[in-house]
Amino acid sequence: SRYKDDVEEKGEMELWQEEQTKKSQMGFGKKKKDEKEYDFVFDDAIDFVVTETKKGKNKKGKESDDVKPDEPEEPVAKGLTDHEKILVGRKKLPVFAYRDEFLEAVAEHQVLIMVGETGSGKTTQTPQYLHEAGYSKLGKIACTQPRRVAAMSVAARVAQEMNVKLGNEVGYSIRFEDCTSPKTIVQYMTDGMLLRSFLTEPDLKSYSCLIIDEAHERTLHTDILFGLVKDIVRFRKDLKLIISSATLDAEKFSSYLDDAPIFMIPGRMFPVDILYCKQPEADYVDAAVVTTLQIHISQDIDSGDILIFLTGQEEIEQCAETLTMRTKGLGARIPELIICPVYANLPADQQARIFMKTPPNSRKVVIATNIAETSLTIDGVCYVIDSGFAKQKSYNPKTSMESLVVTPISQAAANQRSGRAGRTAPGKCFRLFTAWSFKNELEANTIPEIQRTNMGNVVLQLKALGINDLLSFDFMDPPPAECLMRAFENLYALGALNDRGELTKLGRKMAEFPLEPMLSKSVIIAEKYGCVKEVLSMVSMLSIGASVFYRPKDKAVHADTARLNFARGGGGDQISLLRCYTEWEDSGFQTQWCFENYVQSKSMKKARDVREQIAGLCERVELEETSCGVSDFEKVLKAFTAGFFFNVSKLARSGDYTTVKARHTVYIHPSSCMAKDEIPADFLVYFELAFTTKEYMRQVAPIKGEWLTELAPHFYNEADIEEAKKKKLPKARPNK
Ligand code: CDP
Ligand code: MG
Repeated sequence: SRYKDDVEEKGEMELWQEEQTKKSQMGFGKKKKDEKEYDFVFDDAIDFVVTETKKGKNKKGKESDDVKPDEPEEPVAKGLTDHEKILVGRKKLPVFAYRDEFLEAVAEHQVLIMVGETGSGKTTQTPQYLHEAGYSKLGKIACTQPRRVAAMSVAARVAQEMNVKLGNEVGYSIRFEDCTSPKTIVQYMTDGMLLRSFLTEPDLKSYSCLIIDEAHERTLHTDILFGLVKDIVRFRKDLKLIISSATLDAEKFSSYLDDAPIFMIPGRMFPVDILYCKQPEADYVDAAVVTTLQIHISQDIDSGDILIFLTGQEEIEQCAETLTMRTKGLGARIPELIICPVYANLPADQQARIFMKTPPNSRKVVIATNIAETSLTIDGVCYVIDSGFAKQKSYNPKTSMESLVVTPISQAAANQRSGRAGRTAPGKCFRLFTAWSFKNELEANTIPEIQRTNMGNVVLQLKALGINDLLSFDFMDPPPAECLMRAFENLYALGALNDRGELTKLGRKMAEFPLEPMLSKSVIIAEKYGCVKEVLSMVSMLSIGASVFYRPKDKAVHADTARLNFARGGGGDQISLLRCYTEWEDSGFQTQWCFENYVQSKSMKKARDVREQIAGLCERVELEETSCGVSDFEKVLKAFTAGFFFNVSKLARSGDYTTVKARHTVYIHPSSCMAKDEIPADFLVYFELAFTTKEYMRQVAPIKGEWLTELAPHFYNEADIEEAKKKKLPKARPNK
């Protein structure tokens, strides 16, 4: 089948045989049609209990025991073009019935809160309605999304609906990628991009309407936008503002925005059975695979598609791979399972697959992060499998440490996820945790990001906008004072603010870059060390957020050797990435080179795009692209450390690393090229912390302790680096 070909052939045979044996032991194939729904055929089958059925809602949005499915669709009149079919589809969305009322409300009120179930058409339709009503003649219609993938895929969809080329009348802007043109009238963008627009156009006068979409997600950028747009609508009376939310936080938004009226779009919902695991499951990825197979085999093939919620790319790929292998093992005995991963860095060409209609006699399984919770609606889903976890940023202002942590979701999020099963027909939601755990271990609501994140970047941007008194900024939910203070301190230590809290020259330059302050500082300071070219390449490679190195299981040894080649000569992961980029550049950016060196060519191209953009900004702040060559990498690491001096750890007597200031034990991530070094470095600078089983440093490089007092005299003193000098016993480190 067409989706199974990507998987490496070798090793498959054994797995297949294993499956065959298992299958015969399990008596697969003997199952009778009238058997109980969850009488499964896997020896690792999971027991679920149905506890409750979430009631459906009728067309008026009222809870109801009896929500009738649609009459079978009339065959669409023959001879309709694809585009005409799309137009027929547009009219079926719940929001369509309220089109005129919506436009009347917008005409009457400057600010409107819009609430409607996910999938009702808020994101794709309302910008078009505003355009059709003539607002686009007055200025662009912007619609913000918390997620890049959502901005891209929704823009693509709307371009299709409007029958225009993406990037012309309908476009999107996300960080490092601007797909708009002077023709653009409907612009989807990440909330972070609209925030940046304030820097270049403080009154946003090129826009006639702003839709702050997915407001319930309460991302940091959306929360800051609330404060800014609240201010702007006071002096731009011609600007229309719509805050759109999928949940009932509406009252809160309304009272924050001077009691703006709430526009409800009633959405229909079918009842959803909620099933919990009887026993806690230790490995939710594995449990998700088994549950998928259980559903796929026991449930009528036409009953609907499956949506799995996991936490990130790695898990999603692992889940997809296992599913591919296991279904392959079952061969032609089961109907085809079309496996579609969705996560933030998914290449655009693969995004389209998610929305493709499932062919008859097959089933689609979409494996997603919480992007599919509300941002993306995939039609035809009737089964949801919920791991109960999501990756969340967490920030400890005491230690200044920010890390991505896999965290249990809130009850509200779990309910939102289960709702995804009941859009087009009655559905089922399989929660891979127990009912007890739902009741007792999950928080009622997700804490807004602003209360658990590093505010550095946002504070810098607000300062650049001339908003000086942040303590009295009109936040909907203010960040903890400690987080704000810590952001000030850090920006001061970086040299972006002076001791009166004002933006310095350096800080002003830093604000020009769409990068974390630590990264932009590294770029700017590189001029001093004559290595701007190298730092740009390194920073771009670090910024793409995807793994560059490719490691197919059957060629792991070759791949590891290729990777070690970049590490040879020292300098840790940062310099490996720099060598990798430079060699690729020297090859003339060849795809063949990537192939030979086990490097993902897509990631490299992305890095090159990012690099071009940052280099463009360097020109704007008149930073000369000096170069020192890769061999002189100490300069490059010095520039890096000038930005990342907060992220330095030193070797302790125990043989572990502890962060220099907070004395927190941290470990080198096993994927680092330094993970197996015989002689550990005294000091390491790291790019980020990731908490999985332990607190891991990702992307590490060796540095000299003396640099710290030289590069960050406001932050470090001699005593901080002394101790490490005294002891000098290289020890084997337990690092697994
Ligand atoms: O924003 P809201 O959740 O209210 O709905 P929407 O995102 O505007 O989705 C409306 C419809 O468009 C749904 O039926 C989606 O499945 C469909 N859609 C699509 O087919 N392709 C996309 N890229 C986005 C939405
Ligand atoms: Mg939406």
